[in-house]
Amino acid sequence: MKILVVGGGGREHALAWALHREDPTVRLFIAPGNPGTAPLGSNLPISPTDLDRVVEAVEAHDIDLTIVGPEAPLAMGLADRCRARGRTVFGPGQAAAAIEASKAFAKEVMQQANVPTAASRTFTTLPEALAYVEPHPEPLVVKASGLAAGKGAVVCATRVQARDTLTAMLGEDRFGEAGRVVVVEEFMAGEELSVLAITNGEAIELLPAAQDHKRLGEGDQGPNTGGMGAYSPVAIATPALLERVRREVLDPTLAQLARLGAPYNGVLYAGLMIGPDGSPRVVEFNCRLGDPETQVVLPLVESGLTECLWRVARGEPPSALRRRSGAAVTTVLAARGYPDHPEQGAAITIPTTLPEGVTVFHAGTAIDGNGTLRVAGGRVLNVTAVARDFAEAQARSRAAAAAIGFEGKLWRRDIGWREAMRQTRGA
Ligand code: AMP
Ligand code: GLY
Repeated sequence: MKILVVGGGGREHALAWALHREDPTVRLFIAPGNPGTAPLGSNLPISPTDLDRVVEAVEAHDIDLTIVGPEAPLAMGLADRCRARGRTVFGPGQAAAAIEASKAFAKEVMQQANVPTAASRTFTTLPEALAYVEPHPEPLVVKASGLAAGKGAVVCATRVQARDTLTAMLGEDRFGEAGRVVVVEEFMAGEELSVLAITNGEAIELLPAAQDHKRLGEGDQGPNTGGMGAYSPVAIATPALLERVRREVLDPTLAQLARLGAPYNGVLYAGLMIGPDGSPRVVEFNCRLGDPETQVVLPLVESGLTECLWRVARGEPPSALRRRSGAAVTTVLAARGYPDHPEQGAAITIPTTLPEGVTVFHAGTAIDGNGTLRVAGGRVLNVTAVARDFAEAQARSRAAAAAIGFEGKLWRRDIGWREAMRQTRGA
């Protein structure tokens, strides 16, 4: 079997690693991949958003299954393009990918399907948006509707800040195309949870639930990022809660998308806020696997991943995944200046021996002409540890993250702090 993984970040390295671990005879291609994926298959120097060249590669290499990692090519219609050529692809078509690419559309779908989420209004003109914010309770959230690489949502403590953000988006065009449509919504208190559902649009197989750490700094301070670390499983994700998420969020959303003529295929990622009363509400949907959630979720899948993705890509119901026991924690090592202006080029040293159960997934790295591994992105490496329990996984991920060196290394030592607190309280 030949599989193409589209993308070149930590998520795609983890995907390629998981597929290879499950069946080393599978021929893997990664477009463009990174130095971490190179030993697992063939890296193809193709940008994921260069749809013509991706489709060409699928045909040229006669790929059996294409798995699309990032949202941008899905939002541009890569899956439709592959399907139009009779190719098997895991990932939603453009119409369904709008669940992530347009927050305004996602809100409409949720309202139509009665899915619990923050009350909101969508605006395209500044005066109307400002008028809506005037009597709005604080805090409140202003979001660019389009794709903004995790930087489009601004939690505003005050209406003054909300007005400034709206002006930047709708008045000054500072968020580009993504900010020409804006969603203003109520702030939801609680704890976030990422639930990733593999689905053919009807049947669902859940991956282990995870929690991401979006803020740059320890204690969840500082600007939002693509994600500074994650862990799985999460104690609050009880079977009862996940059953509610299926019934109240996933099933009705998939049914509504089908009714709208946008049937789903791939991973539907529900970013949830679990309120103080234990109720799940949707913060956002993504049309793909999470990054860095994938780097903790896939190492906890013992077997069945390839079969499950293959079935779904052909429209069949997902087969069951076998999970391994234990826990996984990943710590992101980012470049100095991330998320705004990450510095490139520092040489990276990874010790030859790392704590047991640790895998280093590459994200923004490159090998220079002398064979030196260097920083070549914002998020550079993901240091994943799998162990028999959360505390051990956290300790090992942290120890390995400390042992890897590059000038300007930025990382959080507190990944999983909520889980650690729960365990201390429970002990
Ligand atoms: P989003 O891009 O919609 O995922 O938002 C990024 C982050 O902003 C989320 O992960 C939350 O931490 C925060 N956020 C977004 N919307 C809300 C909301 N309505 N209430 C509270 N926090 C939010
Ligand atoms: N970790 C958040 C995301 O993948 O969007």
